[in-house]
Amino acid sequence: VAVVPPSLSARVVGSFAYLTIKDRLPTILTKVVDTIHRNKNKFFEEYGEEGIQAEKKAISLLSKLRNEVQTDKPVIELTDGLQDTKSWNQYLQRQQSLHGDQESVSWFKSPWLYVECYMYRRIHEAILLNPPISDYDVFNEGKTQSFFESQQAVMILCTYLEGVTKNIEELSQPQLFEHFNKLLQVSLWGNKCDLSISAGQENSQKGSPIEALNSLQPFILVNDSDIMWSTLTSDQRPEQSGKTYAERVDIVLDNAGFELVTDLVFADFLVSSGLARQIHFHGKCIPWFISDVTANDFQWTIRQAMAANHKWMSKCGAQWQSYVKKGVWIYHDHPFWTQPHEFCDMAADAPDLYATLQKADLVLFKGDLNYRKLTGDREWDHTVSFSTALRGFGPAPLCSLRTLKANVQVGLQPGQAEKLTSQDPSWMTNGKYAVIQYYNPKSE
Ligand code: F6P
Ligand code: MG
Repeated sequence: VAVVPPSLSARVVGSFAYLTIKDRLPTILTKVVDTIHRNKNKFFEEYGEEGIQAEKKAISLLSKLRNEVQTDKPVIELTDGLQDTKSWNQYLQRQQSLHGDQESVSWFKSPWLYVECYMYRRIHEAILLNPPISDYDVFNEGKTQSFFESQQAVMILCTYLEGVTKNIEELSQPQLFEHFNKLLQVSLWGNKCDLSISAGQENSQKGSPIEALNSLQPFILVNDSDIMWSTLTSDQRPEQSGKTYAERVDIVLDNAGFELVTDLVFADFLVSSGLARQIHFHGKCIPWFISDVTANDFQWTIRQAMAANHKWMSKCGAQWQSYVKKGVWIYHDHPFWTQPHEFCDMAADAPDLYATLQKADLVLFKGDLNYRKLTGDREWDHTVSFSTALRGFGPAPLCSLRTLKANVQVGLQPGQAEKLTSQDPSWMTNGKYAVIQYYNPKSE
């Protein structure tokens, strides 16, 4: 049994975790305060004086939070009495008893994954405690803006999908595999467009996402797409012999905006090619890491596509809507996705969610934060296997599609990380590199 390495933490001065807590989180909090303040008139129009009072109180809670981060204060309990409040507070108590005192569970001394998640949960608390603005999504403006800024790329992608699906019956297996690879990689690189790494700064797809693929190829450090393809095309269910499709693929979504469109396009391809019969999407219950998908973002994006003034984009939108109506596409959310847990804890902490994922033939995990949770956000040696880093997590065959934005990467060849470090010292955090990394618990 491999020794489990320590969590990434801002304790290590100069690390990306350290810079995140020191600079990026306060910047994000300042932007949230600005957004709320900018919407003051809107709150007044909707709710009158009460709206203004709520705005002021929310801002004061968020300024207090920013001060706690900047002065490395101890993490404090949540008070909002939501469904998950208790489990957050229990988690905190566990951390405190592990360290023996309350002071040591602070912003710079705790695991980075934990405090970063906690910040987003506290932002949510600040809004929630202030009716009538308690269901305001402070990140909504940024998400919709980044969607509109990627319009051109979205149209190109929908046009490409139309070209593929219109004669999909006639395509040979190798042709199908080629389209599969392209759309998989578009979805992979779609993960570049998250707003968290840019601290809310504009970050959208410019140019053709298809044409960019060739030049991006060398930046894929691990590419298990062949094994993924075989998982989908091998007939694992004897009762369905003759059919080549998987029954169900689950996609654990990451960001709204362009990335979500790339995921929907890929999911559409899986269904229309017969590679999968049903897609289950998993999003967040609350606004999260700036750009993560909520139920509202999911529905909004499909509606926007439907209403677009572009033939193929609106056709895609209508198709997606009908998948949702017919139950071919199913959207879920679960509070576990917005907790700070490593995924190896899922079976114990969210057994219902684990059981849901067990029904899938393949689970795709989009994005960096999901990768951090898959690997526990730890200081793993880069050559440790993905399976070791998962520490028993494996409800079904799974694949991570992730651009690198945190100091954790496993499953590399000996010497690969050293070479990368000498060529590009910030390869793990600059978002230029990516992995398509697969694991099958059944082949262990
Ligand atoms: O620090 C960069 C960061 O904010 C990470 O905390 C997080 O893992 C990532 O960006 C978010 O990226 P993604 O949207 O791919 O999960
Ligand atoms: Mg994200």
